[in-house]
Amino acid sequence: KVVAVIMVGGPTKGTRFRPLSFNTPKPLFPLAGQPMVHHPISACKRLPNLAHIFLIGFYEEREFALYVSSISNELKVPVRYLKEDKPHGSAGGLYYFRNIIMEDNPSHIFLLNCDVCCSFPLTEMLEAHKRYGGMGTVLVIKVSAESANQFGELVADTITNELLHYTEKPETFVSDLINCGVYIFTRDIFTAIQEVSTHREGQANIRHLSSFETLQSPTRALPVDFIRLDQDILSPFAGKKQLYTYETMDFWEQIKTPGMSLKCSGLYLAQFRFTSPHLLAAGDGTKSATIVGDVYVHPSAKVHPTAKIGPNVSISANVRVGAGVRLISCIILDDVEVQENAVVINSIVGWKSSVGKWSRVQADGDYNAKLGITILGEAVTVEDEVVVINSIVLPNKTLNLSVQEEIIL
Ligand code: GDD
Repeated sequence: KVVAVIMVGGPTKGTRFRPLSFNTPKPLFPLAGQPMVHHPISACKRLPNLAHIFLIGFYEEREFALYVSSISNELKVPVRYLKEDKPHGSAGGLYYFRNIIMEDNPSHIFLLNCDVCCSFPLTEMLEAHKRYGGMGTVLVIKVSAESANQFGELVADTITNELLHYTEKPETFVSDLINCGVYIFTRDIFTAIQEVSTHREGQANIRHLSSFETLQSPTRALPVDFIRLDQDILSPFAGKKQLYTYETMDFWEQIKTPGMSLKCSGLYLAQFRFTSPHLLAAGDGTKSATIVGDVYVHPSAKVHPTAKIGPNVSISANVRVGAGVRLISCIILDDVEVQENAVVINSIVGWKSSVGKWSRVQADGDYNAKLGITILGEAVTVEDEVVVINSIVLPNKTLNLSVQEEIIL
């Protein structure tokens, strides 16, 4: 038996995701029409002998209750949300709930960050992990040397794939091979975390005795139960024949910003062609809108037959799209109205917003730039014939004048 654990973080994390994380926890923000966390969950569902999926976070229980019960019913796999009373770090959270996680007596535990977008090749990882015979296997990918420092950089043995050296977000270049935030462990991981915690406790006691050091750096020490998987486990256990790597040749991205969520929405829509073609809009028949490329339309949305939609467009529940509207590369959230002949390009339109007739909401589509995509927060009104370019508009604003490269507070 295997179990999967998805780390979802909490409200103090994901701040770069504002204003979209004001009212919705980032893990539930829709990509390709499904909550972000739905994509790793579906990947876990494809594993043979999966007993349980756990989401660990420090969001309020009620924020996940509805999603967790509906997905459990849909997939016929028990999905459970485990709430930490405070952040314990990515390994500390796992350790904190070790008794619950081990209830099914699993031989292997998958651990996934919720904010990565990839094809989650979990079955292949499990096979590789069994061949290696270590405590853990880390999914890794080669990225450009310029971007590597945003991630954990690592060195692996080219023949055995052993993880030889690991540094989290180093200041000077180590390697273009990086940690994807997807892992598989045997139950020995709990002993490893326990060891690190005991060591930490020992150090804390020494520090307590030496008042000199306490005076110098009173806040340096981390709480004994706060343990990070990367710095506190991967770094010290590298090069000890316990950790191995599995390299993916498929797509992989990290989802820290709204811009990246738009990019990843497109990657998941493209993946639906192979995994869930029934979720893609077909655009057949004279009564339906013109569909270009990969598009998701929620069944409750009403799209006028003269609208033209796509590529990379996701339309959520109860959206109304008027006559002659053009949508390209965008996420339109629940209850939005896009009125006649409006155009939305490279943008995210927040819940309950409205875009007026002949208006344009657009951006140049540089997913990594601060104003590279336009974002309308919740309940924003763009009046008729207004143009919004490369801007972020905070919730509840009304725009009656055109703006460009502005943050409207
Ligand atoms: N439940 C819980 N509790 N989750 C947490 C906590 C915690 O205390 N701290 C972090 N997380 C979750 C986050 O929500 C995220 O899904 C994951 O754990 C990792 O978050 P961070 O520890 O903030 O690291 P990061 O995202 O900046 O980088 C990590 O992931 C990269 C891949 O996306 C590192 O492991 C990098 O090395 C790696 O490249």
